[in-house]
Amino acid sequence: MARDLQDEPIVVTGGSRGLGLAMVEALLARGARITVIARNAAQLADVEKLGAATIAGDATDPALMDRVVAEIKPSVLILNAGATPFMAPIDEQSWETFSGIWNSDVKAGLYGIQAALKAPLPPGSRVLIASSGAAFVNQPQIVRGLRLSGGYTGAKRTLWLMAHFANGCSSERGLGIRFQVLVPLQMVGNTKLLQHVAGAYAQREGVSVEAHLQARYGGPFSEHEYGQQVTTLLSDERYAAGTAFGFKSNTGITLLD
Ligand SMILES: NC(=O)c1ccc[n+]([C@@H]2O[C@H](COP(=O)([O-])OP(=O)(O)OC[C@H]3O[C@@H](n4cnc5c(N)ncnc54)[C@H](OP(=O)(O)O)[C@@H]3O)[C@@H](O)[C@H]2O)c1
Repeated sequence: MARDLQDEPIVVTGGSRGLGLAMVEALLARGARITVIARNAAQLADVEKLGAATIAGDATDPALMDRVVAEIKPSVLILNAGATPFMAPIDEQSWETFSGIWNSDVKAGLYGIQAALKAPLPPGSRVLIASSGAAFVNQPQIVRGLRLSGGYTGAKRTLWLMAHFANGCSSERGLGIRFQVLVPLQMVGNTKLLQHVAGAYAQREGVSVEAHLQARYGGPFSEHEYGQQVTTLLSDERYAAGTAFGFKSNTGITLLD
């Protein structure tokens, strides 16, 4: 059975551009009531024109996340906000560059999850957490292929593990909140993050970003298509259970665990 997202209160962190904005657009089209949290006020002004409410703030701020989640009590909280990782081989990383992504993505994930459990969100609510296909690789050859990504791969894997921890808390306390992980299995769209990450690998390989993406993934995956797939994850009851889901252009949504 399909879940109607009409009038559902949904909060999206990092919904001002890239994948977050694509999810916002897809969910607005389904009649959801969206609130976006991001830092850049000028980009938020553009999002408001689409019909979303906005809050200028930092998703790593626990007081902000607690307040917004307690006030809105969203039926869906999307923890999408993410920084751009510092791309360099392991011996060119300082602890500050390596841990930067942990101090943004993992920190925001921790406080977002805690806000959802503390409020608590209503039974049947969903918390979607942005991980990455980089967190899904376990063959040494492929991991080596991600060697410029520094702390990013482990940070995104940690967010995945945190969803399992949170589901443990939710079921132990009978809260009925389902924490789920979004795992794009190929790079998506043409976002700031994609240009930075794919650009670093393309430069090393001496090819264009487009050629790098074509060789690694076999074709593009647009932000729009990703937004549609995440909306399907929320509206199609087949995906109401399960923790981690892969997203890919030609194969759609896959249950990972
Ligand atoms: N694009 C891909 O191919 C891909 C693949 C795998 C995973 N992902 C994940 O998907 C998510 C979105 O990626 P993207 O490519 O759309 O990145 P993006 O274009 O760089 O957008 C990032 C968004 O997050 C916001 N943001 C960053 N830090 C924030 C903070 N501390 N507090 C509030 N908002 C913050 C940004 O707005 P402000 O800077 O204005 O705050 C922006 O709206 C990330 O978690 C990323 O790791 C992306």
